[in-house]
Amino acid sequence: ANTTPVRHFLTDLDLSQAEQSEVLDLAAAMKADRYGYRPYAGPQTVVVFFDKTSTRTRVSFAAGIAELGGTPLIINSGESQLGHKESIADSAKVLERMVSTIVWRTYAQAGLEEMAQNSSVPVINALSDDYHPCQLLADLLTVREHKGALAGLSMAYLGDSANNMANSYLLAGVTAGMHVRIAGPEGYLPSAAIIAAAEQRAAQTGGSVLVTTDATAALAGADVVATDTWVSMGQEDEKAARLELFRDYAVDATAMAHAHEDAIVLHCLPAYRGYEISAEVIDGPQSVVFDEAENRLHAQKALMAWLMAKSNLAEVAGVR
Ligand code: CP
Ligand code: NVA
Repeated sequence: ANTTPVRHFLTDLDLSQAEQSEVLDLAAAMKADRYGYRPYAGPQTVVVFFDKTSTRTRVSFAAGIAELGGTPLIINSGESQLGHKESIADSAKVLERMVSTIVWRTYAQAGLEEMAQNSSVPVINALSDDYHPCQLLADLLTVREHKGALAGLSMAYLGDSANNMANSYLLAGVTAGMHVRIAGPEGYLPSAAIIAAAEQRAAQTGGSVLVTTDATAALAGADVVATDTWVSMGQEDEKAARLELFRDYAVDATAMAHAHEDAIVLHCLPAYRGYEISAEVIDGPQSVVFDEAENRLHAQKALMAWLMAKSNLAEVAGVR
């Protein structure tokens, strides 16, 4: 029997700095040899649940699973018993007997934790209210491609700084040894618990944390500038108020003038031009948002293969 503990990916902190680097190296290798890795050998299935809508996550997981030799099974909200007719624990105990990996986009982080606690196959967070860690693997792969390395770079995130992307930029960025600066209005900044966790991780990697209401302070000389929608999925009722609330944190030409002249711009997409980011910036020469979107595919393929290999459920070239 396999006595190796199963590895899950529920938050950005689930990978150490060395492990994150190993996954990014594997992603680069997979990108260079797109059809050369088949860790889901044979007729293995990966289930991907969506409780919220998606374009990139859905297509990148479906394509990535197929390219790894597996079969994706996409299940949308309301199409299974999960969460309403059946407990998460019972669902996990059924699924682990049928599939090789469970991927889930949902609301509560606690649901993902319950799934993982009851699953002997890897569970991957495909976005929750609190984190979007798969997105950050793609973002960091993109930064590496454009900047060569991650440790020591400064990365500014502006806007809704209490959302899943802000938390993931902070935690994944400091894991990579980056100097992460987060700027948003009072009341819309990362929680004290997230900041403490980020500071603890930064102390191990040489990274650092700045959380501020001052967008200019966050942007000063930044190598990477990132933002995200001001209205996340589930917040549609607050749209009018939110568009006012974050006005001073838009990534536009004025903001970019404070960053390093060679700074690159990230946005996980979907983007709302004229709100969190100007058309001039997202469609301009510093924007790498479509490389970033493409890298969802390569980063998640590497993540799935790496989790399987580390859980002793598959062999993957280059991963021990
Ligand atoms: N960035 C991202 O996760 O996009 P989707 O919501 O389209 O999956
Ligand atoms: N913060 C956004 C990210 C979308 C990919 C949301 O949760 O809707």
